[in-house]
Amino acid sequence: MSRIDTLIAAMTLDEKIGQLVMISLGADTIVTGPKAAQEPSVADVRDGRCGSVLNLVGRDRIHALQKVAVTESRLKIPLFFGLDVIHGYQTCFPVPLGEVAAFRPEMWRETARAAAEEATDDALHLTFAPMLDLARDPRWGRIIEGPGEDPCVGRMLAKAKVAGFQSADLAGPTALAATAKHFVAYGACTAGRDYAAVDISERMLHEAYLPAFEEAVKAGCLAIMPAFIDIAGRPMSGDKGFLTDLVRTKWGWDGIYISDFDAISELVAHGVAADQAEAAALALKAGLDIDMQSRAYPEGLKPALERGLVTMADIDAAVRRVLAAKERLGLFDDPFGRGAVAEGIARPLAERRALAHEAGVVSQVLVKNDGLLPLAPTGGPIALIGPAAEKDDEALGSWYALGDMNPITGFAEGLRAAFPDREVLVAKGCDVALDGRPKRGDGPAIAHAVKVAEKAEVVLLAIGEPAMLTGEAASRTHTTLTGRQAELARRVIATGKPVVLLLGCGRPLTETALFDKVGAVLVTWYLGSEAGAAVGDVVSGRRYPSGRLPVSWPRHVGQIPIFYNERPSGRPWAPGEHFTTRWVDSPNTPLWPFGHGLSYSTFDISPPRAAPSFRPGESLVVEIDVANTGKRDGATTVFLFLRDRVASTTRPVMELRRFETVDLEVGERRTLRFTLEPEDFACLDPEMEPRLEPGVFDLLVGDSADRAKLKGLAVTLLDPEAAAA
Ligand code: NOJ
Repeated sequence: MSRIDTLIAAMTLDEKIGQLVMISLGADTIVTGPKAAQEPSVADVRDGRCGSVLNLVGRDRIHALQKVAVTESRLKIPLFFGLDVIHGYQTCFPVPLGEVAAFRPEMWRETARAAAEEATDDALHLTFAPMLDLARDPRWGRIIEGPGEDPCVGRMLAKAKVAGFQSADLAGPTALAATAKHFVAYGACTAGRDYAAVDISERMLHEAYLPAFEEAVKAGCLAIMPAFIDIAGRPMSGDKGFLTDLVRTKWGWDGIYISDFDAISELVAHGVAADQAEAAALALKAGLDIDMQSRAYPEGLKPALERGLVTMADIDAAVRRVLAAKERLGLFDDPFGRGAVAEGIARPLAERRALAHEAGVVSQVLVKNDGLLPLAPTGGPIALIGPAAEKDDEALGSWYALGDMNPITGFAEGLRAAFPDREVLVAKGCDVALDGRPKRGDGPAIAHAVKVAEKAEVVLLAIGEPAMLTGEAASRTHTTLTGRQAELARRVIATGKPVVLLLGCGRPLTETALFDKVGAVLVTWYLGSEAGAAVGDVVSGRRYPSGRLPVSWPRHVGQIPIFYNERPSGRPWAPGEHFTTRWVDSPNTPLWPFGHGLSYSTFDISPPRAAPSFRPGESLVVEIDVANTGKRDGATTVFLFLRDRVASTTRPVMELRRFETVDLEVGERRTLRFTLEPEDFACLDPEMEPRLEPGVFDLLVGDSADRAKLKGLAVTLLDPEAAAA
């Protein structure tokens, strides 16, 4: 008998249920749901009432509890420990949406690897990341945690993050198991209101929202977390069709489902279960293995068994998967393997900080520049004004694990280092307004900031939205500046000094009129532990900006949802035509398109080259030349979109298929080579199965999704008969 079979044969029902329960035991991290009526404790571990723990941090504490599990519990089954290691553990990298803006998959992988090294040194086994929720609605606070609007980016992110967190050996001492979340379409919640229901077509799900999860499965993610939401009447935590039939059976995934916090009990509030027993039965039958901190499995599974709602075989199947996951993590062989080396085995701290610095540099997006940036190394004083000028920990953004226990290089420090020969004057201007509301004392602070601006040659205005208003449970109807920041901006601009906006945000902020009035806008998101150093580098031109927007940036909240890969209208917008698809009071285009981002240099991207036709089943090589035609080194991102001209179902106006960010010195030229595979040309048939349809496709190439600027080439997918002839 295998180790797992032997254990299952020896387990009592309570011990089996225990393996399916994850309890929250930490006080040092954010807890995102209702507190348990009865606080979990060490006794739960000793008595086999839980099989995994979240929110506990600190190697000593984790090892102490593991010791209880493997020495004092009857069956000595090790626990695993999970935490939300989202964009770093101790060293913080840019928030996910910011890092996505780098469009550098190798960087995405590397920051995950570094975070995994730190987290596993602290004895953790699993992270509740990456979040792969496509988000086309910036009202939703959690847009900050994910890949933005595009499915191809979502897939690339999934692949890079799973590989980075888990490494090649899931049992290794620095492997941090990845949890792909939140399955699925959480980002499509109604009106961007967190936890609200989702109604979405099968086609949209399959074309846009599912691919990133399928990629995570291909990359071997150990865990998946079902989303809180229901899709068209089907709450994810209780949906067998999605969890088992699609992911396990069709995609062939053999990992573990971990519920979201309290989500199984919440099936009662969704109205598909009358009590904990029914909720537990629904979830278990759907294939959900672990109950995170709700009382449904611990209290509901036994009655569910008694009432015949579940069978012992259902329970055993879930237990088997949980034990198999522990085996794959190497826990039976060495329960103390992570964090075993006292001095740690993560790369040296200086290297982690350097990586945070580098990630911070390449994640910034210069969306507007009238020539104001970069600032000269010498000259009159620079005024750094705004709440983020003084409040360094804002740079950590939402969900920063233990990031606040480490030093943060703030904006003032970073700018002083970048401009040793210029004076940097600092004024807060007004409060960051954590709750969004103006604060007493803002008035005099604004007046003082105006005086500081008057003394300066140029102003860096570091404003935005407080990190507290991003992330989970932080949906907003006004995607604009908070507190009195808009007034601060107005009054600083009124001094007539040139103003660069350093925009801190976790979502596109729709301050269109303000952006018009300043000389440059640099989106700085929340850049993490080395935020100030990274911003100093880009503002001074020691490094060039190279980030691009992973979302279409709306002009106004009324344009939401707005994304580039929409399906065509029968009445496309045409200038001067009234009865076409448009708003009467706004252009159809976003303020800045997906992929937009400026450099300090200029680039030439050639039209794509490829064979004029190809056969079904063949791949197609596409070549594109890119050259730095400006006076400075820089980087550009080349996007390759595809448009299927005529198909049996309408196809998006264009879809991203490949991208690459290239760093080029002045005058340098390179040829990029992308290989498109047959599945890149497929469309989904009514059963949502991929189908290749012969015909003409446009290959469209450019440095953003601005359709007016794309260069194209038509290629023909031959029909099989013509191909045979
Ligand atoms: C709720 C969030 O939705 C999820 O992303 C997170 O992993 C859990 N809480 C645990 O903190």
